[in-house]
Amino acid sequence: MRHGCDTVIVSRNQQRLNEAAEKLRTATGRRCLALVGDVRQPQTLISAVEEALRTFSRIDILINNAAGNFLCPASSLSFNAFKTVHEIDSMGTFNASKIVYEHYFRDHGGVIINISATLDYKGQVLQVHAGSAKAAIDAMTRHLAVEWGPSKVRVISLAPGPIVGTEGMRRLGGQVAEAAGLYNMIPLQRPGNKTEIAHGALFLASPLAAYVTGTTLVMDGGSWMTSPNYLQASLDVWSSQKKANQ
Ligand code: COA
Repeated sequence: MRHGCDTVIVSRNQQRLNEAAEKLRTATGRRCLALVGDVRQPQTLISAVEEALRTFSRIDILINNAAGNFLCPASSLSFNAFKTVHEIDSMGTFNASKIVYEHYFRDHGGVIINISATLDYKGQVLQVHAGSAKAAIDAMTRHLAVEWGPSKVRVISLAPGPIVGTEGMRRLGGQVAEAAGLYNMIPLQRPGNKTEIAHGALFLASPLAAYVTGTTLVMDGGSWMTSPNYLQASLDVWSSQKKANQ
């Protein structure tokens, strides 16, 4: 928005959306439409896209950012838990992409940025649900880039590493990693921040990336290449979260 976009944000909770939209408007002076929708329910996305087009007359960029995650060993995951994460992450990405393509991008072109992850690169422990869902997103990025390229639609994945101040860090043991000094194992020796990820998305959405499609931009300070699979630490976080939720 600081670089000239008006924005539509879509999520499940109207109150949280309103608060976020107000912050964004105040910080940037741009318009922000806050619409309730669930990526698992295509009809809610169709309504949101129609409302966005009524308000702004065009859509240039779609960011598929909805995700659900928590640490859990595969054998303790319920079938519904695995399905839920896939429905939000991978199917949600497909639902939103197809709807925006059919309503606008097919005739006008556009950019789709799918927020994915590096979890599947090494088979991160306690993350089979999210890692496999994000791997499906990266595959979808390539499929749709090939299929929709002729319609002037670019499709790209952006895979962040550990980013401070995010729900992901809170849920996936960020505090434990920090306390244990594990960030020193990251080649750049620190977690990333939200502004750095925003800059990646800005680059991918902008004309500077006009010839980029069907690939993944990893923004993790080199983390996935050097960070070990923290089995015991992850199990400890999982058990303490489980106790807290009981
Ligand atoms: N560990 C194991 N299973 C879990 C879990 C956890 N921490 N949290 C939820 N589940 C299971 C539930 O038990 C349920 O399975 P069940 O019916 O067999 O009991 C299933 O996942 C669905 O959970 P539910 O709470 O009914 O679904 P929801 O749509 O309300 O929530 C989640 C979806 C689970 C992803 C929820 O954590 C969420 O919405 N999170 C917000 C977004 C987020 O996670 N952001 C971080 C991204 S890194």
